[in-house]
Amino acid sequence: MASLTINGGRILNGEVICQGSKNSALPILAACYLIKGKCEIHNCPRLSDIDATINILRSLGCDVVFLNNTVTVDSTKAFGYEIPEELMHEMRSSIIFLGAVLGRNGRAVISTPGGCEIGLRPIDLHISAMKKFGVIINEEHGVLDCKCEGGLKGTAVTLSFPSVGATENIILAAATAEGTTTILNAAREPEVTDLADFLNACGAKIHCSAGAITITGVKELRGASHSVIPDRIVCATYLCAAAVTRGEVTVKDIVPAHLGGVLPVFEEMGCDIKLLHRQIKLTAPVRLKRIDKISTQPYPGFPTDLQALFTTLACVANGTSVIVENIFECRFKHVPELIKMGACIKTEGRVAVVEGVPRLCGANVNSPDLRGSCALIIAGLSAKGTTTVNKLYHLDRGYAEFEKNLNDLGADVYRTEEDDAKKSEQQTNS
Ligand code: UD1
Repeated sequence: MASLTINGGRILNGEVICQGSKNSALPILAACYLIKGKCEIHNCPRLSDIDATINILRSLGCDVVFLNNTVTVDSTKAFGYEIPEELMHEMRSSIIFLGAVLGRNGRAVISTPGGCEIGLRPIDLHISAMKKFGVIINEEHGVLDCKCEGGLKGTAVTLSFPSVGATENIILAAATAEGTTTILNAAREPEVTDLADFLNACGAKIHCSAGAITITGVKELRGASHSVIPDRIVCATYLCAAAVTRGEVTVKDIVPAHLGGVLPVFEEMGCDIKLLHRQIKLTAPVRLKRIDKISTQPYPGFPTDLQALFTTLACVANGTSVIVENIFECRFKHVPELIKMGACIKTEGRVAVVEGVPRLCGANVNSPDLRGSCALIIAGLSAKGTTTVNKLYHLDRGYAEFEKNLNDLGADVYRTEEDDAKKSEQQTNS
């Protein structure tokens, strides 16, 4: 298992180009299965979650080529409807294939998905929505056998919570269903709109408005080219790296509006934010100020995916900050690791109270999940001494060339693969 070593205390300065959005690329690649033709998806980041999605597409019979940052998917001759259990377990978002496979075949056999351990992450909203399309689902030993004879029929779904994945699955199922589907209380994340934009380029009829999405089913979709939107979470991660190291960093190739719920929090902490065309420049203060309260919410509110990173910022801010996690019930697993680094945090249920300390200290810590791993790396950048972040496979699910980009900004971080670590241990012992 790879780990990352960070020699802390270096100020980050400079420019970084933002990667394409993982959370957009995954459903868009799944959508390619619905299309009997060839699609070119540009701006796809090189990530293990993208590789896992490509493996699923190939297992279903698609021809897939990943060259530079473009994934070409030809689903013309694909016919599969069964996704092997080991592929489903590789990542949570594999559930997004349910709508695409059912939409294409009227049949899907899948098992319950894997992914980050940040809470229960049930799929009840996905399942109940599919049933509304006329799908009959039998579950046995964790395998869902889903059938819809005579094709999917458009329906009206009101989500009890604006789940991102459930909204995307419903869009996928509805795109080629018979008749019209409406989703009330739909998720409004930019990644949902990006999926709709891609499908519309393929001939779908999807209309997104505040809180509601209307999909008029079409007979067939045609292949198209699409460029995935920039990753707003990765963009904010680099801004956090600048903020915590008293640096000045410009993130390029981004959509500033996608960070509307986040930029005011940086400002509240004393950072200067300048918006340029498709760029954001952050200049950090000498010491960050405390955050009154961060409360994670569905978009356009403060994203749960940035909660761990802002917890790190609060750890070194001047004063006491309150952070409330409303989306996932187990998303404070980075907290005990930050405490190992000298952070002063108390959690109760969904609330963390963080009392800022002047500086964290380097330690040996374990990544708890994807965003938690980043929070620990950012903590290591500002800490006194050396930090080692283990279980780096979490990071590789979501961040492309992270250590190279940090080093280009002036950090001192390096990766050690398990074999290298063992070798150097053996050399030291011999
Ligand atoms: C997506 C993002 C993830 C982000 C999350 C919330 C991808 C690949 N992942 O995950 O990075 O943190 O949105 O912005 O896009 N829920 C149910 N039943 C369901 C579905 C969800 O109760 O059937 C609950 C979940 O347990 C969670 C909440 O709804 O508490 C939000 O989940 P959801 O929006 O579905 O997140 P994901 O699509 O899994």
